[in-house]
Amino acid sequence: YVIGIDLGTSAVKVLLIDQDGKVCDEVSRSFDLLRPQAGYSEQNPEDWVTQTVDALTVLTNRFTADVTTIKGISFSGQMHGLVLLNEEKHVLRPAILWNDTRTTKQCQEIYEKVGKERFIAITKNLALEGFTLPKILWVKEHEPAIFARATTFVLPKDYLRYRLTGELGIDYSDAAGTSLLNVVEQTWSEEIANAVEVPLSLCPPLLDSADNVGMLTEEVAQSTGLDRTTNVFAGGADNACGAIGSGILSEGKTFVSIGTSGVVLSYEPTGEKNYQGKVHYFNHGKQDAYYTMGVTLAAGYSLQWFKQTFAAELDFDDLLKDVGSVPVGSHGLLFTPYIVGERTPHADATIRGSFIGMDSSHRLADFTRSVLEGITFSLNESIEIFRASGKEIDRIYAIGGGANNKVWLQMQADIFNATIVKLTSEQGPGMGAAMLAAYGSGWFDSLNACANHFLQEAETYHPIPENVVAYHELFSLYKQVYHQTAPLNQ
Ligand code: XUL
Repeated sequence: YVIGIDLGTSAVKVLLIDQDGKVCDEVSRSFDLLRPQAGYSEQNPEDWVTQTVDALTVLTNRFTADVTTIKGISFSGQMHGLVLLNEEKHVLRPAILWNDTRTTKQCQEIYEKVGKERFIAITKNLALEGFTLPKILWVKEHEPAIFARATTFVLPKDYLRYRLTGELGIDYSDAAGTSLLNVVEQTWSEEIANAVEVPLSLCPPLLDSADNVGMLTEEVAQSTGLDRTTNVFAGGADNACGAIGSGILSEGKTFVSIGTSGVVLSYEPTGEKNYQGKVHYFNHGKQDAYYTMGVTLAAGYSLQWFKQTFAAELDFDDLLKDVGSVPVGSHGLLFTPYIVGERTPHADATIRGSFIGMDSSHRLADFTRSVLEGITFSLNESIEIFRASGKEIDRIYAIGGGANNKVWLQMQADIFNATIVKLTSEQGPGMGAAMLAAYGSGWFDSLNACANHFLQEAETYHPIPENVVAYHELFSLYKQVYHQTAPLNQ
């Protein structure tokens, strides 16, 4: 057996997987998100540790075989979050998370000091509020006493791994989201660190995702009931692990994930392509490989907001039950999902969403369908960027909560003009983490071989030609809405 630990933003999920990739058990534990001010999003790293140890303990207690048959553990983690540690490796302040937006000024400062083009050439990404370096600069400016005591930083799952093993490090896939990594050379960027006056010594040692970092500490082994000699592997960023867990491990493979946020992610064999920062370009969890990715900030979140605001009494199944009987285009209603700003393609934290074309005959189902269409149009903007770069996208793996509704899956096929493929028992990043442990443990020669053995395709959805044409026209209208409504929120 192996264990995949997926440290998310609202919960940690622990998966027990056997040698055929079957999920044998699963335990989740949630933790709080702290919002001390508008735009702030923080968490207490100790909560991650306590809740993970608790989840592992429940899992081991239910486990009927000998615990020494659990051979490896690895991690997937929420990206970008800043955990600052002092000399004794104690946490100096609450972690500042990926969805915290207080750092617009620091992003500007990075461009001024490094030069925007140079910054993109080194990190292959824009400087975004969510990324780690702007958070480090915020602490330096606003909490200088804390910054002065910091000797290193790590990202959330790296802190968790440190507490389970006593070994400190960060893997390339998460380092890529810090704005401090030379993504192609796979080294920390002295040039960026010097320009923004952050000591390079703050950066932790770099690891490959499948690197064996050591064993559990005596204390953790005792409290969880796991065997002390269980090998621990570095793990990766949640999007990299999501890619591994859905088999995005070779050229031409792409997934669309619809969870709270939405992600279009595509495999890149090298770091050589140039998207000028229009989409994220990160190191994969597979050694020396890469992935590019576009993000819709409020994907599932738009639907959740809509339900909460206009149909709180319904559950999601009830809300979605009639959307299939509303025609393509939602009877002329168009939604843009910018309710918390947008990343791809606009990188605009101030833009806000809209419903356009409302008619007194519109009913709840029309609005609901237009929300689904708007989210899917937003994801299609990322797909359009990939295609414009010459990427062929004709098959897309659908994962996340948005992959559970048949009408939405057909809509994705029609809007993306690609065949949509579902996996049987899709587990997302937790499966990717478990696969890193399986590969790291020597069960397979490569992650690709592991994916071939662990993952099976279920049903497919093919684009319906007349819907493709209708959506193509609506998509042109959709794209204009951003430019027309941007002044509203300036
Ligand atoms: C990626 C990003 C999110 C987090 C969620 O850039 O910010 O997808 O990884 O955990």
